[in-house]
Order: sequence, then structure tokens, then C-alpha cells
Amino acid sequence: MSITVLGIESSCDDTSAAVITDGVIRSNIIANQDVHRKYGGVVPELASRAHQQNIVPVVELAIREAGISKKEVSAISFTRGPGLMGSLLVGTSFAKGFALARNIPLIEVNHLKAHILVHFIREKDVEPQFPVFPFICLLVSGGHTQLVLVKDHLDMEVLGQTIDDAAGEAFDKCAKIMGIPYPGGPLIDRYSKDGDPLAFRFPEPSVAGFDFSFSGLKTSFLYFLREKRKEDSGFIENNLNDLCASLQKTIVGILVDNLIRVSKQTGITEVALAGGVAANSALRLAVKDLEDRRGWRVFLPKPAYTTDNAAMIAITGYYKYLKSEFSSQDIVPEARFSFNT
Ligand code: KG4
Ligand code: ZN
Repeated sequence: MSITVLGIESSCDDTSAAVITDGVIRSNIIANQDVHRKYGGVVPELASRAHQQNIVPVVELAIREAGISKKEVSAISFTRGPGLMGSLLVGTSFAKGFALARNIPLIEVNHLKAHILVHFIREKDVEPQFPVFPFICLLVSGGHTQLVLVKDHLDMEVLGQTIDDAAGEAFDKCAKIMGIPYPGGPLIDRYSKDGDPLAFRFPEPSVAGFDFSFSGLKTSFLYFLREKRKEDSGFIENNLNDLCASLQKTIVGILVDNLIRVSKQTGITEVALAGGVAANSALRLAVKDLEDRRGWRVFLPKPAYTTDNAAMIAITGYYKYLKSEFSSQDIVPEARFSFNT
């Protein structure tokens, strides 16, 4: 009997629903919330209101696009955390109601682990190329930056993480300093294509073990620009592409250096990227390059699976279904959901 999981993602500012049958993707609908753009970041109250409006139409569309009826859904999985409490509540409440109404299992999912499991989503009629366990995943998003040892679909261990800002936050905060609208990461990526990555040098932090730090880079970037603008008020506009390319090179360098260190120490050469920043073209190129230079096998997620999406929640739900890891109706969202739960 085939297993069809409906996944729901509502942890931040994207409302998403996806359908996966036996690990094969059938639909993945994402409604972005433009309302935050003018505020330069996500406004939690506005995010939860938008989720309320989006959730039903997004789910209906996901089911229609999958070509199934609600009766064919075997289980519903949802993001329990981490994320914004008001946003999580919308997805959690919807999933509980759906599970109750249809009398099917309810499955909680950790958003961070789900980002990693996109590597196990199958496409119809395509021979899958999955990473072999154990592998290392560099999980880089707007809220988290972690090096994860993935021992099995549901067995993961954090080997290193950021001690302050996440990599995506570093992109977004430095973009804001340059007057680039939120989220600045994708725009820095775009402007960098016409810039010289060696035009400016910014300091790389020295952090113990496999941990990361990005707040020092942000501060030195701010002071650097402050000084330069004293001499030339148009410094940012006149050097935007070079500034973006140099900043991007520094952030990617910090990430890749640590990835190499962890691979050397563990002896693991099976390496994957995940999370919103995994869409960054320089990071993808730098890690892919290590296939030849270091004999790694590198797994880059499809761009559509890098930023927040419900396909990752559905695939995690599928693997939890196989192990009968179900949740009860008294479950509540966790804004600060630990990776180890
Ligand atoms: O995983 P995600 O969608 O949301 C969180 O769970 O945080 O990641 C969003 C982050 C934002 O910081 C955004 O600027 C960054 O991913 N991002 C990028 C790129 N695309 C998205 N950063 C650099 N280059 C990109 N191409
Ligand atoms: Zn995310």
C-alpha cells in the first residue's frame, strides 16, 4: 500500500504545503509574503496573519496539483519548530485539525532536520542519487548555521554551529548596511556576479572546534564602510558589486574552511549543503570544486528546495511514518526547538 504524506510548513514567512507519495514529490506549493519587504525584515504579527489567510488555499492547491483527493492522504506532517510562535501555531493547528477530521496520523517535524532531508526527495521517473550514510551536511539558513553528521534519516548530530549570527543573517545584515532590501542574500549573490571578489579584504574569525562566528565580520564591514564614506559619500553605490563579491567571498570562505576541517577530522567525504544560503552560487561552486580537489561526493539541493518549503516537511514525515513516529493531539509548537528532539 502506498503512503501519501501531506506536509505543512509555516515556521517563518512562507506558507507551504506539499504532497509526497512513497518518497516521490507530487506537489510543493509556496506562498511568499511580500508584506515584510517594506519593513526590512519579517514582522511576526504580520507573518501569522498572512499564514491564516494562505493556509487553506495553499493546501487545496497542493492537493489539486498532486492529482489526489483528501481521502488518499495517509498522514499529515507539520513544522513544530524552531520558528516564530505565531507562524508555527497556524500550521500546527491546521495539521491537528486535518488529522482529527480525517482520522490519520499527525507527525511533528523539526524544521532544521527537514532542510537536510530534501536530499532524499525523489522526482518521478528520475533515478535517485542519494548521499550515503554517514555524511556531513552544512546547514546554512537565515536563522541557523550548523555542521551536521547525518548517520541516518532520523539520526543526526550537530558537530559545530554558529556562536552568534547565522550565515544568512550575515548576508542580510550586511546587505541592510549597504541599503539593499530584505532579504539581501539573493541580491548580494546577484550583484557579486559583476564584482571583483579580491577588491576588498575582510577579517575571518578564529573560532575553536567546528563552530562559526559572523558577528565580527558584520561589525568590521560596518566600520569599514563608515570610514570609506567619510572620504566618498557615494562609496557604496560606486563599489556595490565589488563590495558584494568581496563580502560573499569572505562568508563562503568561512563556511568552506570549516567544512574541509570537519571532513579531514572525520574522514567523511560524502558532503551535502542545505538551507536558504545553499542557493548561493559562490558557495555551490566552491563546494562542488572540492569534488575534484579533495575527492568528495558533493550533493547540492535543487534551488527550489533550499529556502523554506513543505516538500522537506513531507519527506521527513514519510520517514517518520515508516518508523511509526507519530504525535498526539496535545502537541504544541516550540519556537526554540532543539536539534536533538
Ligand atoms: O532556510 P531559509 O529559507 O529560512 C530560514 O529557515 O532561515 O533561509 C533564508 C536565508 C536568508 O537569510 C536569505 O538571505 C538567504 O537564506 N539566501 C541567500 C541566497 N538565497 C537565500 N543567501 C545568499 N545567497 C543566496 N543566493
Ligand atoms: Zn528554513
